[in-house]
Amino acid sequence: MRIMLVGFGVVSQSFADIIHSQSTKLARDYGLRPRIVAAVDSSGAAIDPSGLDIPMALKSKKESRSLSGLGADVYTEGRSAADVIREVECEVVVEATPSELTHGEPGLTHVRTAMKEGRHVICVNKGPLALAMPALMELAGHNDVIFKFSGTVGGGTPVLDLAKKCLEGCTIGSIRGILNGTCNYILTKMTAEGVEMKEVLAEAQKLGYAEADPTADVGGFDSACKLVITSNYVMGTSMSIRDVDIKGITEVTMEDIASANSRGNALKLVGYVGDGAKVAPEEVPLTHPLNVSGTFNAITFDTDPAGEITLVGKGAGGRETASSVLRDLIEIRKDFAR
Ligand SMILES: NC(=O)c1ccc[n+]([C@@H]2O[C@H](COP(=O)([O-])OP(=O)(O)OC[C@H]3O[C@@H](n4cnc5c(N)ncnc54)[C@H](OP(=O)(O)O)[C@@H]3O)[C@@H](O)[C@H]2O)c1
Repeated sequence: MRIMLVGFGVVSQSFADIIHSQSTKLARDYGLRPRIVAAVDSSGAAIDPSGLDIPMALKSKKESRSLSGLGADVYTEGRSAADVIREVECEVVVEATPSELTHGEPGLTHVRTAMKEGRHVICVNKGPLALAMPALMELAGHNDVIFKFSGTVGGGTPVLDLAKKCLEGCTIGSIRGILNGTCNYILTKMTAEGVEMKEVLAEAQKLGYAEADPTADVGGFDSACKLVITSNYVMGTSMSIRDVDIKGITEVTMEDIASANSRGNALKLVGYVGDGAKVAPEEVPLTHPLNVSGTFNAITFDTDPAGEITLVGKGAGGRETASSVLRDLIEIRKDFAR
């Protein structure tokens, strides 16, 4: 199966490494023989229809932050991803450029172009889905391609598939989740150590848990994206991020945290969809399974007749998220076989 990686950062590099190191297992267990025929980053594209040399691509990226180490016959500087998607033959495009939440670009154009060219798409980028998920689902159907996006919610934790596949026959009335590891890390630290938000945020940035510009996380927007994607996929809504009432954690004080604790609760950034859709700091009973600590994510599906079901897992991480890309790829392979 020929694959194109659009964006060759943390997730794509982990994915490339996994399919290279597990090639024997993938062929034996799933009949899957993935071949990365192109990888594109912000400075250019590496293309080889017979399959890129993955160890060399990873080495080149590590040493020079570019794919130029693959050689002039493979790498072209300045080549745009949209052109490469149009020109290079492949079955699957993996979209893994940075999530942009106001216009969704460049990911939105990459996903649309890939679908119009008849390529199946695996997207880990939340932007295009948070802004235009219903239209993208329709475009995928119109072009008869498979559109997968497991990694957009929960990293490697199978949030979407659990709800969609394992809860068949149940009605999901509402969803409540701790969907952003950075915010949860900050609130957990503030609670446990009595440290002010500014200080914890600086530490989280140092540890790589928070971006240099933390607005998407602490402003609640990242949680809202994941809420929209989950709701649309699992509950059949047609929302965009604009339909979510969003309040982040920037105004949370030590007093708010202490006051929640005094009532036997923890203050968490909670995404909720059911009767409306919102993201806001909310008190969660200390004994409730949603009360996860550190960078963990948790999501509770309130179902009928199975009752409340909560899934807990790591919400991010290169290898974890790459595992969800691999799951999506295996699903596409199975669909091929069918
Ligand atoms: N990391 C996680 O744990 C995680 C979890 C879930 C979802 N995600 C989502 O997955 C996506 C990728 O995450 P990541 O951590 O791999 O990000 P990353 O390390 O920042 O990688 C992004 C990649 O996109 C490339 N890029 C930027 N603009 C581009 C353009 N116009 N055309 C082609 N390539 C472009 C970058 O190029 P350069 O290498 O040249 O900078 C880089 O290779 C993001 O949308 C993120 O929100 C990440």
